[in-house]
Amino acid sequence: MTEKTILRALAGETLDTPPIWMMRQAGRYLPEYRATREKAGDFLSLCYNSELAAEVTLQPLRRYDFDAAILFADILLIPQALGADLWFVTGEGPRLSTITTQAGLDALKPVEDIHETLNPIYETVRILSRELPRETTLIGFAGAPWTVATYMIAGQGTKDQGPAHALKAENRPVFDALMQRITAATIEYLSAQIEAGAEVVKIFDSWAGSLSGADFDTYAMQPTKEIITALKARYPGIPVIAFPREGGDKYIGFAKATGADCVAVDDSVSAEWVAAHVQPDGCVQGNLKSSHMVTGGHALVDETQRIVRALKNGPHIFNLGHGITPDADPDNVTRMIEAVRSA
Ligand code: CP3
Repeated sequence: MTEKTILRALAGETLDTPPIWMMRQAGRYLPEYRATREKAGDFLSLCYNSELAAEVTLQPLRRYDFDAAILFADILLIPQALGADLWFVTGEGPRLSTITTQAGLDALKPVEDIHETLNPIYETVRILSRELPRETTLIGFAGAPWTVATYMIAGQGTKDQGPAHALKAENRPVFDALMQRITAATIEYLSAQIEAGAEVVKIFDSWAGSLSGADFDTYAMQPTKEIITALKARYPGIPVIAFPREGGDKYIGFAKATGADCVAVDDSVSAEWVAAHVQPDGCVQGNLKSSHMVTGGHALVDETQRIVRALKNGPHIFNLGHGITPDADPDNVTRMIEAVRSA
């Protein structure tokens, strides 16, 4: 039996205390992250500098007793590896060259070529798998095809993913071909992370909630299932966490439909509801509101312990419902961990 609690929870074991990690645990709320990013120059240079990316991945583990490290990278490196231009505007977010036509698709690089760009990321994984403490699990990740497509089509983050919905409605062949290309690239990218030492992979579908009805099945569930099926055929022992954010009722049955070992849930659903409807199918991860990490106090402790107690009768990995924000107080992370372990 492995001593890695995350792997035990992902295998379906109910633990006395849930393992803990935090989305965006390496990030701007930590002064040491900001200093290393400064040293790297900018965010993308940090992602592609294997030594510094490994360093920022390890920073939160020096401060906090987390059970997992998540590779420091970004979901938008796949579009870049496929040939899209990518840059980040400070205070605003990512910008990309857009793809909305067959000619745009044709100009993308073939999937086999992504590793030329992504090799430094695999090197970060290799460094981490050497340097992490034995009890810490290394999580690799990628964006889900729909979420990545929303950025590739709009060229930036959008409130309602309107441009992606429009392309899906107006030029289904181009939209579908783009989804296929991202899916194939994601399978190769995650496979390479696993070969380099990732022990778990997570698929982030941040905008899954904007897909309704049959579209959710076709563009959130199916591509995730395709990726998981391919990975399980190659690496049967590697667990997968799926995060179809704001899935709501669609969280029910998501693990069964896709083959995911764990469904990560955001904070729009209650832990009690998750215990009743999602956890019966296997491990769940979530779902403290990130704003508690800014506001702290009794509410942070009470809400953390309510979640732990609600999910204590099944496999659970404690996490936030979304990433920790730059205005969070680092001391609140310590309080959260203490609250989990004393619940
Ligand atoms: O969780 C981790 O610590 C691992 C690293 C990680 C990052 N991004 C680093 C990052 C992971 C897993 C991601 C995933 C990601 N990236 C998602 C899916 C999860 C989610 O948040 O919904 C998305 C949609 C992106 C795309 C992205 N990257 C956006 C929209 C932005 C700008 C918004 C923001 O928070 O600044 C980023 C930048 C980004 N990715 C930062 C970090 C630490 C901040 C960059 C900085 O240092 O300025």
